[in-house]
Amino acid sequence: MMKENKELLDAKFEKLKRLKEEALLGGGQKRIDAQHRRGKLTARERVEILIDKGTFREMDALAHHHSEDFGLNKSRPLGDGVVTGYGYINGNKVALFSQDFTVLGGSLAEQHGRKIVKIMEIAMKSGMPVIGLNDSGGARVQEGVISLGAYADIFLLNTKSSGVIPQISIVMGPCAGGAVYSPAITDFIIMVKNTSYMFVTGPKVVKTVTHEDLSAEDLGGASVHSEKSGVAHFTAENDMGAIDIVKNLLRFIPANNTEEPPFNPNSDPLNRLNDDLQYIIPANPNQPYDIKTVIESVADNSEFLEVHSAYAENIVVGFIHLGGRSVGVIANQPMVMAGVLDINSSKKAARFIRFCDAFNISLLTFEDVPGFMPGKDQEWGGIIANGAKLLYAYCEATVPKVTVITRKAYGGAYDVMSSKHIGGDLNFAWPTAEMAVMGAKGAVEIIFKREISEAEDPIAKQKELEEMYNDKFANPYIAASYGYVDDIFEPKFTRQRLIDAFNILENKIDKNPPKKHGNIPM
Ligand code: HXC
Repeated sequence: MMKENKELLDAKFEKLKRLKEEALLGGGQKRIDAQHRRGKLTARERVEILIDKGTFREMDALAHHHSEDFGLNKSRPLGDGVVTGYGYINGNKVALFSQDFTVLGGSLAEQHGRKIVKIMEIAMKSGMPVIGLNDSGGARVQEGVISLGAYADIFLLNTKSSGVIPQISIVMGPCAGGAVYSPAITDFIIMVKNTSYMFVTGPKVVKTVTHEDLSAEDLGGASVHSEKSGVAHFTAENDMGAIDIVKNLLRFIPANNTEEPPFNPNSDPLNRLNDDLQYIIPANPNQPYDIKTVIESVADNSEFLEVHSAYAENIVVGFIHLGGRSVGVIANQPMVMAGVLDINSSKKAARFIRFCDAFNISLLTFEDVPGFMPGKDQEWGGIIANGAKLLYAYCEATVPKVTVITRKAYGGAYDVMSSKHIGGDLNFAWPTAEMAVMGAKGAVEIIFKREISEAEDPIAKQKELEEMYNDKFANPYIAASYGYVDDIFEPKFTRQRLIDAFNILENKIDKNPPKKHGNIPM
C-alpha cells in the first residue's frame, strides 16, 4: 500500500517537474539562438541577472492561452510569452515581468496580460516596485480585441500605481502601437541601444501617411527617445547595462510612497570642504562653468546618477547621496544655452520633482539661470503652460527643499527655481549670486532709456549705468536683507552646509490642502 502510494505521488511530482521544465524552454532553442544573434538575452536570462541569486519565485509559469483561432490551438506554450514573479534586488523586494520574445513574439493577449496585472496587484498591495522588461510584438493579433482589453487593464493599474510604488520599464526589444503607453506611464524608461524601439506607428505606416522614409531606429530608437523626445530617461549599451541601471536606481528610491528612501552609509567625511568649488565661478558673468562639477563635488564619493542626461541639457537632474541620504538634484546648466529655462527643460525638471516628492526624496536645487527663453518658437510651443509645470511642481512638493544660488537668479526664473517664496525651506547663496529682475544691460536700457539716448557718448553712458546697476543688484545682499536667502556662504562650505540642512529638515511635516488632485497645467 505504502509503495503504491509513493508511486502515485512520484508520478504527480514527475508531471509537475515535466511541466515546469517545459515552461523553462520558452520558444525553443532555435528562437533562443535568434534572440542571442540579435545581441539580446532571453527573458529568463535577464531575470537571472536582475534578481539576487536564488531569490526569484515565478508565478503562473503554467498559464497558457485558450484561444482556438488562427491556428493558435495547435500550440499553447506554457507561460504565454511572459515570465512574472517576485524576488530581491540587493536585498530589496521587487515584482517583475519579463516578456519572452521567443514565444509568439512576446505578444500580449488575455493570459499574458492577466499575469502582468496579477503581479502588479501584489506589488501594489504589499508596496514594492514593479520592474517591467519589455520585448514584445505588441497586441497578439490572433486574439484581437481581447489583447487590446488586456493592455487597457495594465494601463489602468499603471495609473493607479503611479505615486504609490515605483514603476521602472526597460525596453529591450520592440515596443510599438498602444503598447508604448504602459512604459510611458511608468516612472523611468531605460532603452537598450540598437535593439529596442518605441513608436505609436511603425515605419511602414509613417511612410504611407506622411511619406517619411525612416528606419525603426531613426523613428523610435534609444537615441531618438533619449535626446529628442525625452521619452527615455536612460540608455544602455546592452541588456546587462540596462539591468545595472535598474540596480543603481533602486539604491536611491524607496519601495513605496510610505517609506523613506534607503540610507546609503559611506565613508565620505560629512565635513569635507569643496575647495575645488571656491573659484569655480568665472569673473566674466557670461562665461560658463559645468554645474555637474558642483553636483559631483558635494555628493558622497562624487557619485551622481544623472537622469535624462542627453535631453534638455540646459537643466541637469538626478540622484546623489548626501551624508548617506538620498537627494534629488535639479540644477541649471550654464554650459548649455547659459542654463536658460525653456519648454523641454521645464517639463524634464517638473516630472523629476514630482517623482521625488511622491517618494519622499528631498530636493536640492542649484540655481544659475538667466531667465526663461524668449522667442516665437517658445511662445508658440507653450512656454507659458510648460514653464508653469515646473513652477507648479516646486510649489506642490512637500519634501524638504534646499536651494543654493551659485550665480544668476533672474526674473521669473528666480521665483520658479525653488525660491523661499514658493516654499523653499532653506535657501542659500554663494557671494557670487546675482538676484534681480533682469541682467544689467536689459535693465538700464529700460530704466535709463532717455539718459542713454541724450548722452554725449551713449555707449560710455550705458556702460557706466550698467556698472552702477551691477554694483547695486548683482549680489545676494539685497535678497539677504529681506530674508529671501537664509545665509550666504563661501562655495567651499557647500557640502557640509547641505548635509547639515537636510539633517535639520529630516522630520519636516508639510501637507497640501485635501483635494481629489490638483490640475497641473498639462
Ligand atoms: C502575434 C506576433 C506578433 C503579434 C510578432 N509575432 N508580433 N504574433 N501577434 N503582434 C510573432 C511572429 O508571427 C513570429 O512568429 C514571431 O512573433 C517573431 O516575429 P518575427 O516577425 O519573425 O520577428 P522580427 O522579424 O524580429 O519582427 C519583430 C516585429 C514583427 C517587428 C515585432 O513581428 C512585427 O511587426 N510584429 C507585429 C507588430 C504589430 O503590428 N503589433 C501590433 C502593434 S499595435 P513565428 O511563429 O513566425 O516565429 C499594438 C496595439 C496595442 O500592439 C494596443 C494597446 C491599446
